[in-house]
Amino acid sequence: MKILVTGGAGYIGSHTAVELLDSGHEIVVVDNYINSSPKVLDRVRELTGKDFESFECDIRDKKKLTEIFQKTKPDAVIHFAGLKSVGESVMKPLEYYDNNIYGTVVLLEVMRACGVKKIVFSSSATVYGGGNVPPLREDMPVGGTTNPYGTTKLHIEKILSDLYVADNLFSIVILRYFNPIGAHDSGRIGEAPNGLPNNLMPYITQVACGKLECLRVFGDDYPTPDGTCIRDYIHVVDLAKGHLAALNGCADKPGVHIFNLGTGVGYSVFDVINAFEKANGLKINYVVTGRRDGDLPVCYADATKANEVLGWRAERGIENMCLTSWNWQSKNPNGYDD
Ligand code: NAD
Ligand code: WQD
Repeated sequence: MKILVTGGAGYIGSHTAVELLDSGHEIVVVDNYINSSPKVLDRVRELTGKDFESFECDIRDKKKLTEIFQKTKPDAVIHFAGLKSVGESVMKPLEYYDNNIYGTVVLLEVMRACGVKKIVFSSSATVYGGGNVPPLREDMPVGGTTNPYGTTKLHIEKILSDLYVADNLFSIVILRYFNPIGAHDSGRIGEAPNGLPNNLMPYITQVACGKLECLRVFGDDYPTPDGTCIRDYIHVVDLAKGHLAALNGCADKPGVHIFNLGTGVGYSVFDVINAFEKANGLKINYVVTGRRDGDLPVCYADATKANEVLGWRAERGIENMCLTSWNWQSKNPNGYDD
């Protein structure tokens, strides 16, 4: 299949691009590089030994996006493009609604006009809000998001389901990611946050390499065994493979197909610090501070649906997630700027 990948230069998009190319698909990447660099795509070419077309384009630019669809004629779209910082979204809600929601609407309009009716969308466990008891299942109620970023994912899921009601030839796959970490085994691609990292693993790796002094653990008074929050960390390569499984399993089945992509196993913040120290033989300087607003005590997936329907399951454990995160960070201390 020929797959147009929006946001293909980003963290998850680049790992998925490698898996798609390695399994014989053709890809076309569309990215405006607002949170990435075209250098990522050269590394994807280098890793796979395969070339592909890439376009610098904002998905909100309907004219340019239409030209790209007409020129490249994709069979399906994997839609990663979006802004993803929870904290930033609170400060810039309009930018998030414009980029993520309006951007998706433009993309869907172009797809419809060009007769492309298969899409895999990057959603998030955040859509479950705080009202369900983990493990979180796809049939549990969604809603109650606590920040504009999460609300964009919720609205886009609804827009996609409404689109299917209006045109039931669409095959729509909604993948709800839990907490992606880790990097490609080569250490050539990985997560390269701009400025101060928001997420736990990039913060840990930047403390490990001396760029940051000390990790703040946001609260140790939660109702969990060690008092820190529990999350379902999933290796980004496993996550990338989940997209292939979704395409193989659902691309030819009209409908709205929703899957959690997680491991089904929860680790606390202290578990992650300990696993990182053990896997890499390093010490992480940390201090326990107050809770961060909006953090749920416990969040992990029931991952059985993806296994039963798609035959996919996460294969890599926390040790490999820690090893590959550090391999990437230590080889690329300044991300793609090296
Ligand atoms: P990322 O920021 O590394 O990648 C997103 C890519 O989209 C970037 O390359 C960025 O330049 C591009 N982009 C953003 N807006 C664009 C626009 N208007 N037009 C064209 N390109 C645009 O993020 P990621 O971690 O790879 O996440 C990919 C997707 O998965 C996002 O939609 C994100 O919300 C979702 N997601 C991420 C996580 C996570 O923890 N990383 C968890 C759940 C869901
Ligand atoms: C994990 C744990 C923190 C940083 C976010 C988004 C979610 C999804 C994935 C996109 C929490 C603790 C963190 C630090 C810490 N993204 N922590 N010190 O918040 O579970 O999920 O990314 O869809 O929508 O909300 O991930 O990595 O920020 O935090 O103690 O410096 O680590 O409190 O318990 P989170 P995270």
